[in-house]
Amino acid sequence: MTMQTILILDFGGQYGQLIARRVRECDVYCEIKPWTTPLAQMRAMDPIGIIFTGGPGSVYLDGAPRVDPAIFTWGVPILGICYGCQLMAQSLGGRVISAQEDTAREYGESRTYYDVSCKLFQRLPVQSVSWMSHSDYIDQVPEGFVSTAHTDTCPSAAIADERRGFYGVQFHPEVGHTEHGVDMIRNFLFDICRAKGSWTMGNYKNAVIAGLREKIGTGNVLLALSGGVDSSVAAALLAEAVGPQLTCVFVDHGLMRRKEADEVERAFAPWDIDFVRVDAEERFLSRLAGVEDPERKRKIMGDEFIRVFEEEAQTLGKVKFLAQGTIYPDVIESGAGSAAVIKSHHNVGGLPGHVEFDEIVEPLRMLFKDEVRRLGRELNLPEYLVSRQPFPGPGLAIRIIGEVTKEKADTLRRADFIFRDEVARAGEDKNLSQYFAVLTNTRSVGVMGDRRTYDYTLALRAVTTSDFMTASWARIPYPLLDRVSTRIINEVEGISRVTYDITNKPPATVEWE
Ligand code: XMP
Repeated sequence: MTMQTILILDFGGQYGQLIARRVRECDVYCEIKPWTTPLAQMRAMDPIGIIFTGGPGSVYLDGAPRVDPAIFTWGVPILGICYGCQLMAQSLGGRVISAQEDTAREYGESRTYYDVSCKLFQRLPVQSVSWMSHSDYIDQVPEGFVSTAHTDTCPSAAIADERRGFYGVQFHPEVGHTEHGVDMIRNFLFDICRAKGSWTMGNYKNAVIAGLREKIGTGNVLLALSGGVDSSVAAALLAEAVGPQLTCVFVDHGLMRRKEADEVERAFAPWDIDFVRVDAEERFLSRLAGVEDPERKRKIMGDEFIRVFEEEAQTLGKVKFLAQGTIYPDVIESGAGSAAVIKSHHNVGGLPGHVEFDEIVEPLRMLFKDEVRRLGRELNLPEYLVSRQPFPGPGLAIRIIGEVTKEKADTLRRADFIFRDEVARAGEDKNLSQYFAVLTNTRSVGVMGDRRTYDYTLALRAVTTSDFMTASWARIPYPLLDRVSTRIINEVEGISRVTYDITNKPPATVEWE
């Protein structure tokens, strides 16, 4: 696949992925590589520009990440950010020293003054706020460089050698707190690296499909389809590329949300693929019978899933390619040097042990989550699949507290459907990261008509979060909660009380189990 590429060389900073997102948002393709990547490998990527990320180290210390000085002789423009800026300065003969408390050490927002005749800052205001996080600073710029920005405490907040196309910034243009940071990245990409901005999802889709056809040839491909966004988009991409050679095994474990399994099946009806839907509800429920411990439930769901998948796969005989919906954040090697992490798909429980295959194909391994969604739209997958909220691999098994039974699953499905329906009608779904109902194991006394009831308590959970590591309970409007509660009590037998969970993560988790 030939396309203009920006190489992001990762020195272990926190924002490597954010830089990549910013570049791609400008319709320019980029890849993150650890700083230890051999020079020949970088060269083979034929980048139109290179960005050095920040990093936790100090360039003057032994063992600090470095870069082969030959990189500065390629004639490719380089933008160094924070540690990357200091590294460039030091590698080219400048001096970087530790800032004393009261001098150039800066954390947080700093008023910054720019030389707008520098290409990196052209068309920007002469002063604005940048976001700094550094305790070292450039005391002496390298030969050929000039200082192109300063703050009240830092004389070289940015440096440049425009003749050679080398630029460095002490601050972080990729974070939202840096005013005009995105404009600086755009200037680097379009004015300095001469990017065309042709990396659109449509182009990418065509290129990936061509690549898949070439790689797969006449071989057969097997994919475990969970109905989640990643495996669905991977399936659609493969269906488009090599449809008749593709078998998708969709294990319906009976603990999906209402209508979900049918929706998945319907979404794939337009393609000429071998779509195998395995109705395994009874198998899963009988293994879950009597089990109350959440971790055991998870394990059972994972194990049984793999068992069913393997049984199906074995009826197909040997497959040449096993496809997985691994996405970019799961494969990026951090610049700090840790090994690549391959996602152990919760729904597949890792790679199946009893399926014979020659190779793995991971057609989404270069995409971020929202890019996967965009690609899904490009492939005409229905919106309900493409924009779906995360749903845990073990399904409703971990949203039914205590023992899981079919009756409880049906009750929860009805209530959860009402919650989702009302949230969508109110247009609140766009404001929520995840929202669902939990069937608690608590029963309480109620009164309906003239009758005493003693039924289950249902909990509603809705959170906002950007990374699911921390989450806030969502302030959804009271009238909406009121409608949901009234409908659930009226329409769902077996529930006599509805509560709303107002706990953040931490200390709580998103799911109840
Ligand atoms: P927690 O409950 O850990 O959830 O705060 C964070 C995110 O992970 C999802 N989750 C799971 N996903 N298998 C999955 O595939 C699991 O066992 C599992 N447990 C939690 C949860 O829905 C939320 O999006």
